[in-house]
Amino acid sequence: HVIGIDLGTSAVKLLLMDRGGRIVQEVSKTYPLIQESHGYSEQEPHVWVEQTVAGLSEMMNHFPGNAENIEGISFSGQMHGLVLLDDNNEVLRNAILWNDTRTTAQCQEIYDVIGNERLLEITQNPALEGFTLPKLMWVKEHEPNIYSKAKTFLLPKDYLRYKLTGELHMDYSDASGTLLLDIHTNNWSEDICQALGIDSNLCPPLIGSYEQTGTVLPEMASITGLSPSTRVFAGGADNACGAIGSGILEEGKTLCSIGTSGVVLSYESSHDKEFGGKVHYFNHGAPDAYYTMGVTLAAGYSLSWFKEVFAAEESFQDLVAEVDSVQPGANGLLFTPYISGERTPHADASIRASFIGMDSSHQRKDFVRAVMEGITFSLHESINLFRNSGKTIDTIVSTGGGTKNEHWLQMQADIFNADIVKLSSEQGPGVGAAMLAAYGCGWFDSLKQCADEFLQIEKTYSPNEENVQIYEELFGIYQHVYEQTRELNTQLLPYRK
Ligand code: XUL
Repeated sequence: HVIGIDLGTSAVKLLLMDRGGRIVQEVSKTYPLIQESHGYSEQEPHVWVEQTVAGLSEMMNHFPGNAENIEGISFSGQMHGLVLLDDNNEVLRNAILWNDTRTTAQCQEIYDVIGNERLLEITQNPALEGFTLPKLMWVKEHEPNIYSKAKTFLLPKDYLRYKLTGELHMDYSDASGTLLLDIHTNNWSEDICQALGIDSNLCPPLIGSYEQTGTVLPEMASITGLSPSTRVFAGGADNACGAIGSGILEEGKTLCSIGTSGVVLSYESSHDKEFGGKVHYFNHGAPDAYYTMGVTLAAGYSLSWFKEVFAAEESFQDLVAEVDSVQPGANGLLFTPYISGERTPHADASIRASFIGMDSSHQRKDFVRAVMEGITFSLHESINLFRNSGKTIDTIVSTGGGTKNEHWLQMQADIFNADIVKLSSEQGPGVGAAMLAAYGCGWFDSLKQCADEFLQIEKTYSPNEENVQIYEELFGIYQHVYEQTRELNTQLLPYRK
C-alpha cells in the first residue's frame, strides 16, 4: 500500500491505495482560511500538521494489515504558500497562501529591478501576487524582525513532510512556483536573490518529486500508527500531482481541474516554448518534464462563496441540481468569477466580479447556473490561449469537485468544445501523490506505466453542437466584461474593507 496526502487550501485529503491502484480508504480533515484584512489569506502550519496526524491516525486505526505494509507516502500541496522557519526550524509566522494578494507593490519592484524580459528568461513566469518571492519580499519589508530571524523558507507540503521526517527539502515542481528557480540550470537563481536582496541561504535543498527524503520519525510513527520504516517521498505541487494523477504524462494531453481554484494545464516536454508569460510554466513531477497552465483564482470558491452568502442552508448537491432546469445562458445572466482578482489571462489582483443582466424574473437557480458558466468561461480563456498558440485540444481530462456534477461536465464539453473525460476518481492530486510513492517504491518502471495501471476512464462527455454555438457567442460577451468593468472597479477600490 501507499498513502497520498493532498494538503489543500480547505482540507487535507488522505488516500490509501493498493498495488492495483484501488482507493482503499479516504480521510479528509478541514481547516479554515485566516483572512484578517482585505486580500490577506493565511493558515497556521501547525494546524496542517495536526489535521494530517488526525487523518493518518484515523486511517491507521482502520487499516487491517501491519503498518509495515504501508510502503511509501508522498504529498501533493497547495502551491506558492510561504512558510518561514527560524534556526530551530520553528515557524515564525502564519503561512501566507497562494490566494493572498497583498504583494502588488513587491511584484512591481521585481519588474523594476529585474525587468519582465529577464524574469521570463530565468523563470518563464511573470511576477504575480500569488507567487512566493513577492511574499518573501513583503515580509522583509513589513516584518523585518521576523525576516531577520528566518533561516529557511518552505512551501506548505514541504513543512508537513519536514514534521514527518525531520528533513528539509523542496521538490522542483513546487520550487518552480516560487519565482526563484532558474529553469535552465534547475537551481536557485543567485541572480534573482542578489538583485532583490534575498539571502539565497533561505532556499532549501532541491529534490525530485519521486525521490525519497527519509522515513517516518519514530515519534510521528507512534502518534499516527505508521511504521518508522515507511519511506517518505518528496511529492509535488498540487497541479503537478493533478497532472500525474490524471495521466497528463505526454505531449498533447490537457487537464482541467476545478477545485477552490481552477486550472487548465498542458504537458510540455521542454522548458523553452514561447508563451511570453501569458500562462504559468512549471516543472512537472515526472522527470525532465514541464507543464504550462492557466489559472482561475476563484473557481469552486466562487460557487462556495455564492452558496455561503445566499444559500447556506442548501446542500451543494441540491443547489447545483437546480441548474438542470435552466437553459445555457442562464436566461441572460452573466457572471465573471473575479471575487478574489484574476490570474489568466488578466493577471489583475484588483479586478472584482460582476453579475450582468439581472432581471426581476431571475431565480436563484439562474444565479447558480450563471456562476458555474462564469467559472467555466474563465477556464475557457486559458484553453483559448493554448489553442491560439497552435495547440490542438480536442480531449480534456476533467478532475476536482467540478466533476461531481453531470451538468457541469456537460457544460465543460459545450463551453470548451472538446470531449471531457471523467476518470473513476476525481482526486487527481491525491492519486498523483500516491503514484509518486508507488513509483518511488519501485512498483513501476515509469509514472506512465503506473498511470496505465491506476487510472480508469469512467465516462466521456461530448459537446452538443447547439450549445457550443450559444456558448461561443456568450463567451464573446464574457470576454468584454473585464475591460468594461476595470475602471469602475478601480473607483470602488477605496470602499473595500
Ligand atoms: C497555482 C495556484 C493554485 C494552487 C492551489 O499557481 O496558485 O492552483 O496551487 O492550491
